[in-house]
Amino acid sequence: MVSASSTKYRPRLIDPLLDELLAQLPAMLVPGPRTAGKTTTLARRAATVVRLDRQTGAAAFEADPDVALRGLPEPVLLDEWQRVPGVLGAVRRAVEATRIRIASTSRVRCAPSWSTRSGLAPAGSYA
Ligand SMILES: Nc1ncnc2c1ncn2[C@@H]1O[C@H](COP(=O)(O)OP(=O)(O)O)[C@@H](O)[C@H]1O
Ligand SMILES: [Mg+2]
Repeated sequence: MVSASSTKYRPRLIDPLLDELLAQLPAMLVPGPRTAGKTTTLARRAATVVRLDRQTGAAAFEADPDVALRGLPEPVLLDEWQRVPGVLGAVRRAVEATRIRIASTSRVRCAPSWSTRSGLAPAGSYA
């Protein structure tokens, strides 16, 4: 989990679209350049923020991503998912099973085919 930044949030043009997509899609993959504001923007909409670039956040997901994802208050932000690539498979299985809403982000740009294969709905680049 991560606490919100103390910096005052500046509204972004993408905010209304993100809210609309989150209400409609079971999962989103949000790639974009470093420091573009992905974590800050998405964390505001998440009931749970999992920092996969930190050992405390990553350990359970490395051990068993399906179990780690289960029961988390939603929407769940899986920040820096590329640190534990197995989480995408867990997200796909969770979406297929329960249609829960999950926001996922990464600094790494994914090939569209990779996103398609994962079963996630590519929501575009919101950097
Ligand atoms: N909408 C915003 N209003 C104010 N500060 C922001 C906003 N978006 C990002 N920031 C600030 O910009 C910096 C980088 O944001 P961050 O969310 O960590 O980027 P990313 O996750 O894309 O690497 C942070 O210090 C964050 O507080
Ligand atoms: Mg980030």
